[in-house]
Amino acid sequence: MKNIRPIEDESRPKVYIETYGCQMNVNDSEVILSILQDDGYALTEDIGKADLILANTCSIRDNAEQRIWGRLEQFRLQKKRRPGVLVGIVGCMAERLKDKLLDRHIVDIVAGPDSYRSLPELIRNVTPDSPQMNVLLSQEETYADITPVRMDKNGVSAYISIMRGCNNVCSYCVVPYTRGAERSRDPQTIVREAVDLYSNGYREVNLLGQNVDSYLWKDPDSADRDVNFAQLLEMVAKISPDLRVRFSTSHPKDISDEVIYTMAMYDNICKHIHLPVQSGSNAMLEKMRRKYTREWYLERVRKIRSVMPGCGLSTDIIAGFCGETQQDHLDTLSLMEEAAFDSAFMFQYSERPGTLAARKYPDDVPPEVKTARLNEIIALQNRLSGESNRKDIGKVFKVLVEGVSKRSPDELFGRAGNNKVCVFPAEGHKTGDYVEVEVLSCTSATLISRLVKG
Ligand code: 5AD
Ligand code: SF4
Repeated sequence: MKNIRPIEDESRPKVYIETYGCQMNVNDSEVILSILQDDGYALTEDIGKADLILANTCSIRDNAEQRIWGRLEQFRLQKKRRPGVLVGIVGCMAERLKDKLLDRHIVDIVAGPDSYRSLPELIRNVTPDSPQMNVLLSQEETYADITPVRMDKNGVSAYISIMRGCNNVCSYCVVPYTRGAERSRDPQTIVREAVDLYSNGYREVNLLGQNVDSYLWKDPDSADRDVNFAQLLEMVAKISPDLRVRFSTSHPKDISDEVIYTMAMYDNICKHIHLPVQSGSNAMLEKMRRKYTREWYLERVRKIRSVMPGCGLSTDIIAGFCGETQQDHLDTLSLMEEAAFDSAFMFQYSERPGTLAARKYPDDVPPEVKTARLNEIIALQNRLSGESNRKDIGKVFKVLVEGVSKRSPDELFGRAGNNKVCVFPAEGHKTGDYVEVEVLSCTSATLISRLVKG
């Protein structure tokens, strides 16, 4: 079996990896480490010891990119102190900005999300006068045959990328440009990876894709053997009742009844759906090219809740998209109330160069209005999260222990199936155990619980 943990070997050259952005990027860093370990590198967590410094970057909002520009100054200092150190920018920002990243003469390597296999060659070819770049996007690359080297701390929960890229053209979003066209990964390789994780002690896999509901593996020989997302979920759920399955991200236009019923059928498929709504206003949804309406979205929510009462529901919301009126904003607030989200990621709109919105619609909501609306959205979500947590008081959940609580060394934490974090007394349990807890009280972020049995 391949080593799925970082190799410790003082004699090897060292790579330091900083990861920004989404879960997909976290998993990509694990793919990168696998490729570099095979090429003789070992991971270091100390930037001061690194021979190669990599930043796996995100372009989703301008502030994500600004942070990386700031980090480049730190990387410059490392190079000054220790000549010969190489700096690489990989991921979405590498793809978007390409040779602009080379202008400050700090960066030696620029590699986009589909060119990680070429990193060893790029590294070998770098000289002080010739930085190396590969930003080719691919129609096929899924890194299906590469076993990610896991960098998580707990050894319990792991990401598995089931597809790459995105074929939606949400008008605000840079991802189709940075990650290219959508392609699904061979389901057999996904199942093998999950089995491998399970036999290495992992108890939870999180299947990742930009839009998991459009996962489709086309069998080369027979369309009858094509695999859709519901079928893939079932294949992974059947590996073991002790291996929990999560997934992200669902698209409201594509999430099917088949997926919802498959979730309901298996106890080990966690009852949580991340279903980004973005806005509650039909006018905004249309301009965002989301291809659903408020009514469609709320119908999907009702379906999920009727088939799986208690299913956790989280979302993403953008405040202050182009032309957003006060009424559009109020529509978002009322949708949030109706959907009663358990949690949400909330953002101000940030124009991304090259997107449809940047080309077609002026970014005309004043910054102070964006901020005020975002603050209202956050305040409302805090209330909704609190209400949702209070409803769980008295309930019993099966929790997978993820580690020792920050509050006290005598307490553990883990997630219930609905994705809420529970904290409870350790009483002899350890990371990786399943426990049953009863919720006693809550904060807006945590369910304070006691052990029921086990
Ligand atoms: N501005 C603000 N938020 C954005 N998102 C995507 N693009 C932008 C943008 N240009 C948000 C969406 C998406 C999440 C990952 O990031 O809500 O679901
Ligand atoms: Fe992930 Fe999107 Fe950021 Fe790329 S731009 S890292 S896909 S969130």
